[in-house]
Amino acid sequence: MAEEMNDRVDQIISIENHIHETQKKVPEASGQFSGVLCEIALAAKIVSREVRRAGLADILGVTGEVNVQGEAVKKLDVFAQTVFVEILKRGGRVHAIVSEESEEIIKIPGFMPHGHYLITIDPLDGSSNTDANIPVGTIFGIYRRTPGELAEDEDLFHRPGSEQVGAGYVIYGSSTVLVYATRLGGVHGFTLDPSLGEFILSHPHIRTPERGSILSVNEGYRPWWKENTREYIDFLKSEGENRPYLCRYVGSLVADFHRDLVYGGIFLYPENGKDPDQPHGKLRLLYEAAPLAFVAEEAGGKASTGDTRILDIVPDDIHQRVPLIIGSRLDVEDYEAYYRGER
Ligand code: AHG
Ligand code: MN
Ligand code: MN
Repeated sequence: MAEEMNDRVDQIISIENHIHETQKKVPEASGQFSGVLCEIALAAKIVSREVRRAGLADILGVTGEVNVQGEAVKKLDVFAQTVFVEILKRGGRVHAIVSEESEEIIKIPGFMPHGHYLITIDPLDGSSNTDANIPVGTIFGIYRRTPGELAEDEDLFHRPGSEQVGAGYVIYGSSTVLVYATRLGGVHGFTLDPSLGEFILSHPHIRTPERGSILSVNEGYRPWWKENTREYIDFLKSEGENRPYLCRYVGSLVADFHRDLVYGGIFLYPENGKDPDQPHGKLRLLYEAAPLAFVAEEAGGKASTGDTRILDIVPDDIHQRVPLIIGSRLDVEDYEAYYRGER
């Protein structure tokens, strides 16, 4: 019994343990980056608790406001935004934050301690699903402002996603899982154990299969896709080697992405001409596409618009939208070939 117990204790690695072990790989590290990740983990626990009891508290439904995206703001959107922003602000490690729920860049007031990290965040992704108890999530990206960088705050976020020093997401699903990636060593997932109040390592070294068999796309927009996009989707749904692919679409990007990351597959939100205001599709570069592209690439996957690597795009607007094709490397490369008219 004692031996068995020891094994289990040995296997229990909290996210804080893991973050600090990763930090040891960088002898000159100050611990600030680790602190940002730990603050994100704490905020995720608080949001998870609220999401889990949302049906019992007066926190479902809309606030009556409309955000910069022109979307109805859900009460959980506001709650998640407040929790992540306030915890990151008070930590003194952050210089500024771009959030889906804030039209302007969130700057740290002069009287509060400042750090060098720039955070991009979608506090609650998939929020249209909250009232139906469908999984939702949080997506985050982390950049480091070089000390003394004089760029105006507005320009600080006009940099490619390849400059992220870390990124990840939380999925509030059948369990709450936090996945983060750094340049130091892969992609790792942690499952929240509510009895401990700890995120425990559950998915070490996530690698995406180089080819999947799951297609994830909202076919409701088919009439407005490019012809090459339609041809690719029809190819995946036709008889052939490893085909037809299974079709799965949750409508929460984090849930669709996490499934494809773990099982393999391809998620597409292509440009579609349905909404003239959104010629590049609905998803936002800074706090949806770029953080997940970072995770995908660190796990051996790929992320593209069809002809441009997501992590190469330099935004000129903090709420810029981009087409997002993401998942298993060979599947994304197949789409790119169709998109370029080579198939
Ligand atoms: P958010 O709730 O942060 O606005 O994101 C919703 C996004 C994303 O989660 C999902 O992939 C996409 O909306 C679904 O869009 P459609 O309903 O147009 O398919
Ligand atoms: Mn979102
Ligand atoms: Mn959102």
